[in-house]
Amino acid sequence: MLNTQNAAVLQHPTQLQPYGLPTFNTAFDAIAAYQGDDQIYALYPRKVEAAARLFVNGFPGHVLYAVKSNPHPSQLQILWDEGVKRFDVASIREIDLVNGLLPDADLFLMHPIKSRQTIVHAYGIGVRNMSFDHEDELQKIVDCTAEADDLHLHLRLALPKVSKQLGAVMPLGGKFGADFDAAVSLLKSARPIAQKLGLCFHVGSQCLNTENYNTALAYARKVVDAAGVKIESIDVGGGFPVAYPDMPIAPMTAYFDLISESLITYGFQDLEVLGEPGRALSAEGGSTLVRVELRKGNDLYLNDGTYGSLFDAGQFTWKFPVRLLRSRPPAPCANTIGFRFFGPTCDSADTMNGPFHLPADTCEGDWIEVQNLGAYGQTLSTHFNGFYSDHTVAILED
Ligand SMILES: Cc1ncc(COP(=O)(O)O)c(C=O)c1O
Repeated sequence: MLNTQNAAVLQHPTQLQPYGLPTFNTAFDAIAAYQGDDQIYALYPRKVEAAARLFVNGFPGHVLYAVKSNPHPSQLQILWDEGVKRFDVASIREIDLVNGLLPDADLFLMHPIKSRQTIVHAYGIGVRNMSFDHEDELQKIVDCTAEADDLHLHLRLALPKVSKQLGAVMPLGGKFGADFDAAVSLLKSARPIAQKLGLCFHVGSQCLNTENYNTALAYARKVVDAAGVKIESIDVGGGFPVAYPDMPIAPMTAYFDLISESLITYGFQDLEVLGEPGRALSAEGGSTLVRVELRKGNDLYLNDGTYGSLFDAGQFTWKFPVRLLRSRPPAPCANTIGFRFFGPTCDSADTMNGPFHLPADTCEGDWIEVQNLGAYGQTLSTHFNGFYSDHTVAILED
């Protein structure tokens, strides 16, 4: 798994195993050993392990990792080793990635709209869990599995909009999901087809309001009652948040406790319960180490940006935690100021307003660690303008 180019520019790593990556004790060590020009992606195995343990031990059901949030093989392996055995996949490439690395993993194809090739491929390698939100998709699944009688089908609900879009920072309700009447009808149509039938939904990513899971489960109850059919599973989706600057969150146990209570309140406690965390299992375990190429006033021009792993910082003006990684003299000054970031590409959209608070004397040549980027960071980066990085390291510090 070790990329030779990766090894060539990262001299004298502390060790190469067990993560299949050049491994260092600290981010400072990784930078000191680096001879390349691009940004460096840092994976913190201890943090990924801690997040996995929190969910495996605390979530009141089975944990499916949403592979899209960070498909790096080392991330997948760490989660597997910590007890995450189910994976939410969306494409043939994600299926093959997880199946190739972890052949005993249970794959859930939870993309509600799939190509026929994807369904055929998935079923062929043993995937039985699939989601749908429309009659035509249901028929597609029937056709592409030759009317299989061993499917576990998950009907994706569109959740009704409540105040402030359910309190999720990134609402996901605009594209997928069946509304109430369609859901009632689809449950009835799918019942004779599915060996197991369930409901799934997504309250929106980075959901700051625990109560939204309760609201969604109450709604699911109404759909099931109106349809009058038996279901075997309920999937509460992703959306579990992590803390970012100016975005404090409730402890994860508050989410788990409320979901447990709501499952009882709405009579779902005896069903197979599933959850699909992405961000909460990957964000804190990943950083991008970026270098300052130029400073203009309070603007820092970096070697990564909106077209790289900092898409959310640009597109959604998301603030990420940052720290200066300077080991050479002079030591960084104590007072901090708010900076704006610019990425390396020619596009003006490659702007990240932050503000990102760093020592006031931050300057060209300094490295900055942008944290909590394990989710939707490296995986969103493009090759635009030739700016990208092949360099991923593991960092052992907590
Ligand atoms: C079907 C599905 N499940 C799970 C997730 C993961 O969501 P999150 O990262 O908010 O936990 C997503 C994110 O888009 C999704 O579309």
